[in-house]
Amino acid sequence: MERTLVLVKPDGVKRGLIGEIISRFERKGFNIVDMKMLRMTKELAADHYAEHKGMPYYDRLIEYITSGPVVAMILEGEDAVNIVRMMIGKTSPSESFPGTIRGDFSLNITVNIVHASDSLENAKKEMKRFFS
Ligand code: CDP
Ligand code: MG
Repeated sequence: MERTLVLVKPDGVKRGLIGEIISRFERKGFNIVDMKMLRMTKELAADHYAEHKGMPYYDRLIEYITSGPVVAMILEGEDAVNIVRMMIGKTSPSESFPGTIRGDFSLNITVNIVHASDSLENAKKEMKRFFS
């Protein structure tokens, strides 16, 4: 069994998509082992997106992720990291297929509904970051 971190980002919360997103993961068979709503501080956002510092979109990204509450959850299931990444879809809107969360609900490369850990190692760090 594997665990991974998912965030419903501020646009997902504002657009009323929390239930839709949770429902997709539940129907797939994942267990929600922890969940909470929080407003990310600039510090938490900088920590979470540290590897993106210096990128042209960085300031826009921090502004966006701190613009409203997010819903953080830990999902558990077989091969969770890879399968959840597959279910959220690619970062670029022109590559995120219909049927994925981003492919179905987002047209914007920054404002893209969800986050999910991209490796087992990052999943561990991110779960600790949001659920210490
Ligand atoms: O979220 P994901 O792991 O798919 O993508 P990332 O490359 O790790 O980038 C993290 C986040 O930065 C994305 O989800 C976008 O919100 C944002 N981003 C952006 O605004 N413009 C880019 N060219 C790449 C990423
Ligand atoms: Mg990433």
